[in-house]
Amino acid sequence: MASITKHIATAKQLLDNGELVAIPTETVYGLAANGTNSMAIKKIFEAKGRPSNNPLILHFAALDAIAPYVNFITTDVKLLAEAFWPGPLTLLLPKSNNVPDSITAGLRRVAVRVPQHPLTQELLRVLDYPLAAPSANPSGYISPTQPSHVQKQLGDKIELILDGGPCAKGLESTILGWDDNGTPTIYRKGVITAEAIEKVLNQLPQNHQSKTLEAPGMLSSHYAPRTKTVLTDAIDQTITQYENLKIGAIRFHSTGKVNQKVDKEIILSNKGSLEEVAQNLYAAMHELDGQELDVIIIEKAPEDGIGKAINDRLQRSATSP
Ligand code: TXA
Ligand code: MG
Repeated sequence: MASITKHIATAKQLLDNGELVAIPTETVYGLAANGTNSMAIKKIFEAKGRPSNNPLILHFAALDAIAPYVNFITTDVKLLAEAFWPGPLTLLLPKSNNVPDSITAGLRRVAVRVPQHPLTQELLRVLDYPLAAPSANPSGYISPTQPSHVQKQLGDKIELILDGGPCAKGLESTILGWDDNGTPTIYRKGVITAEAIEKVLNQLPQNHQSKTLEAPGMLSSHYAPRTKTVLTDAIDQTITQYENLKIGAIRFHSTGKVNQKVDKEIILSNKGSLEEVAQNLYAAMHELDGQELDVIIIEKAPEDGIGKAINDRLQRSATSP
């Protein structure tokens, strides 16, 4: 079991010694290590069972701290940083020699971000190195949005979870880079939408299409519960198809009715707010996955705004009815 604490000095001491610490961010909890220490980085891959060809994000206290780890910072990067940092945006930038190859899996770009959670901000400010931090879940499983999720999944592999309460946003950061033609490109959707980025860059970023391993976390069968999970536009109809099984259902908003065929139902947002849906989604999936159900049936979000990022994750965790 890991200890769950708000004590930053203890976290710093462990990290300085090359150990792992789970940290809160506004998106999901991260499994952090000194991002300049190859031995410490190796422990992240081991604890998660993560393939070594899947690169890690480096986390910094502010844009200024990033300069030594990248080759240049363009005006567009400065504009995005002003608009969105600290916050749930990760940028892929040309790396400098200060970034260990194990961070980038040998790629030419490094992923960098300035997270928003006050505890992690405070921690990053007392460290003299960036934190490498993937989501704090075993590779391929649902990301954690509460300390208890980390404890359940990785508690036997780490000593400390920094307790920042439930994550405010609840979905992993948006990942943005520039392709070979200099076109801004979204590699992972998040709560910072293409439209919000367009307002800053005066150009709508494209969605990355290729199936290559450029952002390996974007391969399908990620973010998956152990229980069979089904994604649907017509939840009550789909429930009927699984009638004789133990069913968990996740709905976006309350219908005011109870479906008698469902063993356990979770409403993500009574008022139907997509922000609230994103915030509560992974906790609902964790909860239902722990209940020995035969199937979890999840309602699709409207494909609009952050609904696109929600559906993107749901498609990777589920099969069709
Ligand atoms: O919100 C987040 O981004 C969270 C919190 C903890 O910051 N972190 C997170 O890390 O989601 P992770 O490792 O679970 O997902 C990072 C994604 C992976 O899909 C990885 O392949 C991609 O970013 N990535 C990292 N570095 C990359 C690089 N240099 N080029 C392309 N993709 C990269
Ligand atoms: Mg992850």
